[in-house]
Amino acid sequence: MSTKPIEVSELRKTFSTPRFLSSIKTEALKGVNFSVGKNEIFSLIGLNGSGKTTTIKILLGLIKQDGGTYSISGSGRITPEVKKTLGYLPEIPYFEGVFTPVEMLRFWGGLSGLSGSELKKRIPLVLEYTSLTRAASRKLKGFSRGMLQRLGIAQALLAEPDILILDEPMGGLDPMGIKTIREFMQSLKESGKTVFFSSHIISEVEKVADRVAMIHDGRIIKITRPHKHLEEEFIESIEEFDKNVKPDT
Ligand SMILES: Nc1ncnc2c1ncn2[C@@H]1O[C@H](COP(=O)(O)OP(=O)(O)OP(=O)(O)O)[C@@H](O)[C@H]1O
Ligand SMILES: [Mg+2]
Repeated sequence: MSTKPIEVSELRKTFSTPRFLSSIKTEALKGVNFSVGKNEIFSLIGLNGSGKTTTIKILLGLIKQDGGTYSISGSGRITPEVKKTLGYLPEIPYFEGVFTPVEMLRFWGGLSGLSGSELKKRIPLVLEYTSLTRAASRKLKGFSRGMLQRLGIAQALLAEPDILILDEPMGGLDPMGIKTIREFMQSLKESGKTVFFSSHIISEVEKVADRVAMIHDGRIIKITRPHKHLEEEFIESIEEFDKNVKPDT
């Protein structure tokens, strides 16, 4: 029986993109292994196209792996009960400009099965937590990138999940926005949550993560604790890996 919030073993995924009379295959994951401990902030770092979002989508049950196994909240597949333990911030959150934060949160909360009375209680709390109370009834089209990202965090926290899965939570943010997201992660950890996030902003990862897994070309090439020279180690590890592994196509 699994005890860790997230365990991933030999995950494989190949995408097939149809072309005229044939298809192009992309091996996105080639055997990914790692585990995340309770109350840990764990970061998956990697270059563009290295397999971060694919890993996250498999963990959330949004796409199915071709090989390997995972366990999340003690389960090998995403049931409605498991879903309730997970909060997710997508890489490109979808926001409809004509709506307000309260309207969007009601909509998302309804999708995750929260009742009207639960929403009434939880929405003001998550808005307060993400400092969006004053903007709660303003239309989203006037919101800055940082405000939208905070709304994405509010959405992820709505159902009081134990595990937060954040895909590039610092992407496109200015230094103050990045600091805010970092503080959210720290405070979530302090309140007993497990945080799994992907990033390629290495300097920010080293300030907040307890452990870091480096993913490259669909494989975890190193798992380490953050330190001052993480970026150099990351680049060296990639160069070393590329020198030793010949591309298979
Ligand atoms: N639906 C899809 N169809 C075809 N190929 C895909 C699909 N999704 C991902 N891929 C490919 O799989 C590989 C891994 O993509 P993935 O989105 O997991 O990378 P990533 O590490 O999240 O990158 P980024 O930092 O740009 O977000 C890439 O080569 C990508 O082009
Ligand atoms: Mg991605």
